[in-house]
Amino acid sequence: MTPWTGPTLEVHADHLRTPDQTLLPFELKWLRLDSLLSCEQALREMQVRGAPLIGAVAAFGLAFGLREGKALPVACERLAATRPTAVNLRWALDEVSRALSQAKGELSRAEGELSTFASAPGSAAGSNAFSRAWQRACEIAADDARINAAIGHHGLALLRERMALRQTLGRPVAPGAPLQLLTHCNAGRLATVDHGTALAPVYAAHAAGIPVHVWVDETRPRNQGASLTAWELMQAGVPCTVVADNAGGWLMQQGRVDAVIVGCDRVAANGDVVNKIGTLLKALAAREAGLPFWVACPTPTLDFTLPEGALIPIEMRDARELTHARVRLPDGAVVQAELMDAAVSALNPAFDLTPARLVDALITEHGAVPASQAGLLGLNSRSSLSQ
Ligand code: MRU
Repeated sequence: MTPWTGPTLEVHADHLRTPDQTLLPFELKWLRLDSLLSCEQALREMQVRGAPLIGAVAAFGLAFGLREGKALPVACERLAATRPTAVNLRWALDEVSRALSQAKGELSRAEGELSTFASAPGSAAGSNAFSRAWQRACEIAADDARINAAIGHHGLALLRERMALRQTLGRPVAPGAPLQLLTHCNAGRLATVDHGTALAPVYAAHAAGIPVHVWVDETRPRNQGASLTAWELMQAGVPCTVVADNAGGWLMQQGRVDAVIVGCDRVAANGDVVNKIGTLLKALAAREAGLPFWVACPTPTLDFTLPEGALIPIEMRDARELTHARVRLPDGAVVQAELMDAAVSALNPAFDLTPARLVDALITEHGAVPASQAGLLGLNSRSSLSQ
C-alpha cells in the first residue's frame, strides 16, 4: 500500500474527506463529512482530533449548518460544545461568523436595506451565507497548512542549532547519530490539515537529510502517540520508537534525548500552555535534565482573552477511555478490552497545564519566542495568513 503522507483534510466541492482516527492504526478508512451533524459527531467522538484540525472541521461544519438552514448561533453552539479545551474550535467559529457579518454589512450597503442571512434552506440569503462561510472555511484550512509549514521552517532552525550545539555539550556523539527528539500525544499531520505542528520540524529535518529519531510517548489513555504519531512517522519513513509515558524522564537522564517538542491546545496570554495530559511531567523532566522544551504553537491556538493558563477549561472525558483499551486480536478483530476490575473508579482529565516558565520556546509561524513573551504575539494572533 502507498504510504500515507497527508493531507489529513480533503476539501471537495460539497463535502470533506478525512481519516477516521478512531480506527487507526489498524485501518485507514476515510470519513465523508457533509452535514452539521456529521461534523459534530466526528468532533465529539474524536474521529477528527488535534486542535488545528478540530478548528478547520468546525468551520466547515458551520457552513454545512447554514446550508441546512440552521440559525448561526444554534450551529455555533452545537459545534462549540463538542470539545472545550482547544481554542482553535471557538476561533474558527468566530472567524466564520465575522466573515458572515462583514458580507452581510456589504450586502446591506449595496442594496440600501437590511439583508438577512437567517436562511431557509435553498433561499438566496441562505445560499449567500453558505458560500461565504464555505469560502472562509476553505481559507482557514489552507492557512492551517501554510502556518504549519512555516512552523516546520522555524522549528528546523532550532533543530539545526541543537544538532550543532550537542557536539559542544561534552557528550560523545557518534558521527551521523540522529538528533533524538521526544514528543507527546499527536501533534502531527493527523492533528492538522497538513504537515503537523510539533512534527512539522521533524518532517522538515527528514526532508533536508538531517537524521532524526523520535521517542513517541504512548500517551495514555487514548494512546494518540502509539496509535497515531508512531503510525504517521512510519508512513513518512521517520525512525521512531514508542515508549511508555513514564519512560521519558529516564531517557532524558540517560542523555538519550536532545530536545522535547510537543503541540498545544490553548496558550494563555502569559504563555502558559495547555496540552494533552502528561505534558507537564515531560516539561518538568526536561527542565531537570537541562533539555529544551519546545511547544509548536500556531497563532490561532493563542487565547489572549485569558491572562493565565489556570483559566483554560480542562476537558474531562469518559472514564471508560482509561478502564478499557482498543486491541486487535490475533484473528484481526478489533475489540474493546477491560483493563481493570469493573468496580474500580477512574478519573480522566484530558489535558494539563505547563507553566510558561518551563517552556523554552513557542514555535509559531512567525518564528520562535520564549513563552514568557507570548503577549508580544498578540499583534499577529488573530490575523490569518491569507488576509
Ligand atoms: O485530545 P486530542 O487528541 O485532540 O489532543 C491533541 C493534543 O493534545 C495535541 O497535542 C494538540 O491538539 C496539538 S495538535 C497540533
